Amino acid sequence: MQPRPAPFPPDLLAPGVEPESESFEVVLDAAELPVGTLRRVTRGDLDILLAHIPDGIVATDDRCPHMSAPLSIGVLDGCVVACPLHDGRFDLRSGGPVQMPTTGGLDPDGVYHPTWTPGGRDPKTDPPGKKAEARRLTRVRRFRYYPVRIADGRIQVALPPER
Ligand code: FES
Repeated sequence: MQPRPAPFPPDLLAPGVEPESESFEVVLDAAELPVGTLRRVTRGDLDILLAHIPDGIVATDDRCPHMSAPLSIGVLDGCVVACPLHDGRFDLRSGGPVQMPTTGGLDPDGVYHPTWTPGGRDPKTDPPGKKAEARRLTRVRRFRYYPVRIADGRIQVALPPER
């Protein structure tokens, strides 16, 4: 099957990207991104995550939407990528979390989730202090996507203009 771009929620387009413009850049040979794999490509100070999910190829920032860890070294299972840092899991089709990070915090809608606790135990209480407060106030955001197209066997991504 030929690789193809995966659809993504249109309201989650990355800032500064104009998908109809000539801003598409070749970033990788499609053969280097089989289904089920993740890759990082870098342009300037922008690290892009390429993921080949069953729906096709998506491009988003290679920064976890929780605390910015590189998702390219996470684990891809179908359309869900697991972050290597706090085990948050994110759906690359919808852009949202399917499992909150173990540190808890706010989900994209601002709803608070407590720190993860092993099954059957009482919920952990955060010690007072700035670190616990920072964890509580950290909001997981939704992915922002860079449009993808594929031509001549190469993956192209629409990127914002370099500043
Ligand atoms: S940085 Fe990814 S879950 Fe925390």
